[in-house]
Amino acid sequence: MTSIWSLMVFFLLLSIVGVSNGGLTSRYIRKSRPSIDMPLDAFPSPKGFNAPEQVHITQGDYVGRSVIISWVTPIKKYPNTVRYWEDGKHGHGHKHKHIARAITTTYRYYNYTSGFIHHATVKRLKYDTLYFYELGRGNVTRHFSFKTPPEVGPDVPYTFGVIGDLGQTYDSNQTFEHYVSNPKGQAMLFVGDLSYADNHPFHDNRKWDAWGRFVEKSTAYQPWIWTAGNHELDLAPDIEENQPFKPYLHRYHVPHKASQSTSPLWYAIKRASAHIIVLSSYSAYGKYTPQYNWLQQELQRVNRYETPWLIVLLHSPWYNSNNYHYMEGESMRVMFESWFVQSKVDIVFAGHVHSYERSERVSNVKYNITNGLSFPVKDPSAPIYITIGDGGNIEGLANNFTEPQPSYSGFREASFGHAILDIRNRTHAYYTWHRNQDSEPVAADSIWLYNRYYFPQEEKTGASTMV
Ligand SMILES: *[C@@H]1O[C@H](CO)[C@@H](O)[C@H](O)[C@H]1NC(C)=O
Ligand SMILES: *[C@@H]1O[C@H](CO)[C@@H](O)[C@H](O)[C@H]1NC(C)=O
Ligand SMILES: *[C@@H]1O[C@H](CO)[C@@H](O)[C@H](O)[C@H]1NC(C)=O
Ligand SMILES: *[C@@H]1O[C@H](CO)[C@@H](O)[C@H](O)[C@H]1NC(C)=O
Ligand SMILES: *[C@@H]1O[C@H](CO)[C@@H](O)[C@H](O)[C@H]1NC(C)=O
Ligand SMILES: *[C@@H]1O[C@H](CO)[C@@H](O)[C@H](O)[C@H]1NC(C)=O
Ligand SMILES: [Fe+2]
Repeated sequence: MTSIWSLMVFFLLLSIVGVSNGGLTSRYIRKSRPSIDMPLDAFPSPKGFNAPEQVHITQGDYVGRSVIISWVTPIKKYPNTVRYWEDGKHGHGHKHKHIARAITTTYRYYNYTSGFIHHATVKRLKYDTLYFYELGRGNVTRHFSFKTPPEVGPDVPYTFGVIGDLGQTYDSNQTFEHYVSNPKGQAMLFVGDLSYADNHPFHDNRKWDAWGRFVEKSTAYQPWIWTAGNHELDLAPDIEENQPFKPYLHRYHVPHKASQSTSPLWYAIKRASAHIIVLSSYSAYGKYTPQYNWLQQELQRVNRYETPWLIVLLHSPWYNSNNYHYMEGESMRVMFESWFVQSKVDIVFAGHVHSYERSERVSNVKYNITNGLSFPVKDPSAPIYITIGDGGNIEGLANNFTEPQPSYSGFREASFGHAILDIRNRTHAYYTWHRNQDSEPVAADSIWLYNRYYFPQEEKTGASTMV
């Protein structure tokens, strides 16, 4: 039944490929249904006293030889160590396992008290190697694994997943499971808005715990590269919660110091053939601010001979043609767009708007208040902007697009889904977007991306392909 439905969608989409040369609004209409969260106990804590839970990993240094392993123990602080070892070595017996000690923290939010949140950085790993790790003790020991990336280099193939605005509804579960069923994703580029705890009374922080358990079956095994969104702010002056990003910053650590950033809200990593810059739409970015100064310097550090692919993650999109959150990213675009064009950024991924959209390569950097040049124009040095806030959270779909479709908009559709960025070498990457209703191999939007530094040709798009 499902596969017949997928085939029908596939052929329906094939029928619109002919007009896909820019400016396509998909005719696919997703049946709307209410967005409700899965219950708190949908993903219960693992059995056993003080069992480690909410396990997640992220890159722990600039180049991919360290991993930050994070987890929560609900009742007691100890044990706060992780044991890890290389595949094929010392798997049995404790003698040769390495041990890393965590930094442990807790926080209070209104009347909620967190468990013990642990962050352990395991260092000096080998590239391209499978590691096993275990958390907990005795009969509550839990086992996981991850694979380190290959050494940074210009033609190293690597495949990233991309998800934004996930939340924890039944739709979120579908998006997440759909991604997990795709065997290709090696690391996740997550563009912000994680748990949506703040949509519940008193920002019910148990929703942060539930979210950590929900995504564990991916986050414990491959690094998720985190971006902060507006739902990470958790500001609630009425209950005297005035410290921005409090739950997020306690729970999610990133290697910001490795890229000389002074804040975990903006940072950069190199992974395989990609240099990934993460920005904060909800921190100051005006001239002279720490984020502005840092970005200026980080762009100087990008070495396209080493990492041909330059990718930016941020939450609030600069180019998007949905009435929902329309132009909220505009002030940041004004600050940084000319840098992105000068630096030939390949792709900018954003979330925030709960639908899917891919832009043309356009820039809008000529305007100077008197010259009237305020219209986006085609620009081969400009990034493609992808809005992928369609993870499926409790706020539902953003299905009200501006009409007519502006020329900067290449493809747009109000459906939930995820994307896969499959970097093949220094010139080519294959990018696909997968809507939840389709079976995993169907791509509702796909494009061969050409690297802006090595092969700045104009891309051709096809609305639908099997991959
Ligand atoms: C785990 O071990 C402890 C003490 O050794 C025991 O009290 C407890 O019942 C065990 N729990 C489980 C889930 O087996
Ligand atoms: C926190 O406060 C809310 C609202 O008064 C209440 O429903 C909830 O039970 C309280 N939780 C705790 C842990 O005290
Ligand atoms: C989440 O999706 C998986 C896979 O489809 C399913 O087995 C599971 O029951 C879902 N969880 C909930 C709470 O709906
Ligand atoms: C604004 O742009 C116009 C047209 O390109 C140019 O003549 C003028 O000098 C610019 N003004 C400033 C202040 O840069
Ligand atoms: C779509 O957005 C426009 C602009 O904000 C608004 O005027 C219109 O009422 C919206 N349409 C629907 C169906 O919500
Ligand atoms: C890069 O990958 C593309 C797509 O697979 C291929 O067509 C091209 O020949 C490759 N380039 C090199 C130099 O291998
Ligand atoms: Fe958002």
